[in-house]
Amino acid sequence: MKKFLFLVVMLAMFATHGAVAQDQEGYKRVNLQDEFADNAFTFFTQAPILLSGDKTASNAMTIGWGSMGNYLGYKRPTVTVYVAPGRYTYQFMERYPRFTIMEFDNPDVARYMGSHSGRDGDKAAALGLHVAYTPSGTPYYTEAKTVIECEIITSFHQDESNFRNETPRNFYKNFEAGIHAIYIGEVIGAWKK
Ligand SMILES: Cc1cc2nc3c(=O)[nH]c(=O)nc-3n(C[C@H](O)[C@H](O)[C@H](O)COP(=O)(O)O)c2cc1C
Repeated sequence: MKKFLFLVVMLAMFATHGAVAQDQEGYKRVNLQDEFADNAFTFFTQAPILLSGDKTASNAMTIGWGSMGNYLGYKRPTVTVYVAPGRYTYQFMERYPRFTIMEFDNPDVARYMGSHSGRDGDKAAALGLHVAYTPSGTPYYTEAKTVIECEIITSFHQDESNFRNETPRNFYKNFEAGIHAIYIGEVIGAWKK
């Protein structure tokens, strides 16, 4: 019995460790469906940061496109992001199961993350950002004011045969980074400062 209780306490401590760390950094967990007041059409135009990886490796970049809604259930909020194969982040999105989307007060973060590649060096270190991990082990930066953690449900690798009108045909004519892959992520955690 004693052994069992010890195990339960250890498991509880392990499960809450990340959450406690996030509380200490000034985050409050939010339920996006009840508490997210941002405009989903303009959220991504504020240039949030997409970070993909795990405790061993990660890379982040600025994104300007994305969608928020539900998929496979009314109580399954999802965030969809679009990542071009030419981005270093693409290799991470292909390899790792989860990603975070973050908002920052400092506009230098989006400027730098959107104009440099992780292939040439650690962008987070260059910006002085600190990596931490959610209870699921997904990386985020403690300087972010909003962190949305997603687990990828499915992804789509489009080619020209998928295009249905002239908008993508015209866009991709002169776009060197390749046709964006589409990742639908189920929201598994969200925090705001
Ligand atoms: C405002 C802004 C929005 C961007 N949005 C996207 C996007 O939605 N998808 C994408 O693939 N690249 C987007 N980019 C480009 C990448 O952020 C940029 O190429 C970055 O340097 C890639 O870094 P990486 O090679 O480390 O992945 C955006 C860039 C900026 C500045």
